Amino acid sequence: MNLKTTYGIPKRTGANINIFVFFQDDPSTIRRTLKKYGFAPGVADNYGFAGMKDEVLELISPDKKKDQCGILLGLGRKEKYTPDNARRAGGYFAGLAAKRLIKAAAVAAIPKPESSLGAFVEGVILGGYSFDKYKSKKRNILSLRLIIEEKYRKFRKEINKSVVLAESACFARDLVNTPANFLTPSSYAAQARTLARKYGIRTRIYSAREIQAMKMGALWGVAKGSEQPPRLITYSYNGGKRGEAPIVLVGKGVTFDTGGISLKPNASMVDMKNDMAGSATVISQMIVLGRLKPKINVVGIVPAVENMPSGRALKPSDIITASDGQTIEVLNTDAEGRLILADALCFAHKFKPKAIVDIATLTGAVMYALGHAAAGIIGTDDKLLKKLYEVGQKTAEKTWQLPLWDEYYEQIKSNMADMKNTGGRPAGTITASAFLSKFVGDIPWAHIDIAAMDNQEGSHPYQPKGATGFGTRLLAEFLLSQ
Ligand code: BES
Ligand code: MN
Ligand code: ZN
Repeated sequence: MNLKTTYGIPKRTGANINIFVFFQDDPSTIRRTLKKYGFAPGVADNYGFAGMKDEVLELISPDKKKDQCGILLGLGRKEKYTPDNARRAGGYFAGLAAKRLIKAAAVAAIPKPESSLGAFVEGVILGGYSFDKYKSKKRNILSLRLIIEEKYRKFRKEINKSVVLAESACFARDLVNTPANFLTPSSYAAQARTLARKYGIRTRIYSAREIQAMKMGALWGVAKGSEQPPRLITYSYNGGKRGEAPIVLVGKGVTFDTGGISLKPNASMVDMKNDMAGSATVISQMIVLGRLKPKINVVGIVPAVENMPSGRALKPSDIITASDGQTIEVLNTDAEGRLILADALCFAHKFKPKAIVDIATLTGAVMYALGHAAAGIIGTDDKLLKKLYEVGQKTAEKTWQLPLWDEYYEQIKSNMADMKNTGGRPAGTITASAFLSKFVGDIPWAHIDIAAMDNQEGSHPYQPKGATGFGTRLLAEFLLSQ
């Protein structure tokens, strides 16, 4: 969707669609507000609209002078309010806008504007997203002018931030939705470079040869089975003081995960174009950084590979050496994410980071741990984990911590090498993290497993089917909170 926000008095800007967002437990406000806008004050009641969470009512005003439409959206009970209720309302509005081809509408009333207006706008953009690049007949791209009433102008900075976050998430969705025949490691790197140039962010992209020269045996091990050469994509954004330690973001960029020689069955393979979703959240931070220009230093690192079976592919039981010299017995070539992340984490050390956050569609097991309600998060630094919990609540891209106790390291001990790349079925998400932690050292670190969050299969007010962009707004709020 193409959203333009302006501020003004709707009557003068010509919009005859007014959006009203209401709490459930406040009938007098509903009556008073509707009356002010020329509706019969009891009309919401008459149609049974109470302002419940996810409730929607469309009204036509009987006003003879000017056709007026009101769209009423519910926020639920005041005491149970979270900004996500407003985000959801925004999503429902986007659905209506698409259905009715609404071109302009005004936000007339919304309670708790300090936290709900931005969230509402996010919901509109996220809910209005569609991906039809590969349809021969394009749907109309929604073009919507959202007029925000003058009285809310003081929240414009917050609203602008929301626009940027939501548009970045849509950019990440585009990357994730793009199938692997169009998004290869090299085309991905080219896109990342184009994006960086747009915002004056420095990139350095390493070729297959350079990856081998840097002795990244784990990353290369995964990459070498594919006809598509790998890339190590890096960017650095310097908004902070010179020499100030950066936050390093690392994202898993497997453009397609067949499992390799440990081939996945087809039913588990079909969604594996999404296996670069973690990296998409890292790449899309360039939009956040470039547009909001926070005074911090950030480095993004994306190992981009395709995991394929072939005569040159890794075989189960092969032993490979990561760039820090640690050896890995590869018992399952489908546990490839941790291998490419191992070398990316080693590489992160070069930047002397203040903290490392990696994000990855790493384990199917995280779905058994947390379902589709939250990403699993594991790390070594309580302050960092707490912050990522808080921004998770704020963005409704929730994170929930799993433990990283000594017991789990037993599962990845190898007789043949320093470690093995699988710990078996128990606590699969944790043993994957235990593996990653071996490449982190003492730097404060958190790992976010989004394998159950990257794709929306059901119906959701602001997540159309397909890539969710999950993690983009989370990381953005995290960076902006530094
Ligand atoms: N990309 C997958 C994880 C995944 C599974 C993401 C389902 C999204 C949905 C990852 O590379 C993988 O295959 N992990 C294995 C690890 C196992 C072999 C130790 C898994 O989870 O089964
Ligand atoms: Mn895999
Ligand atoms: Zn994978």
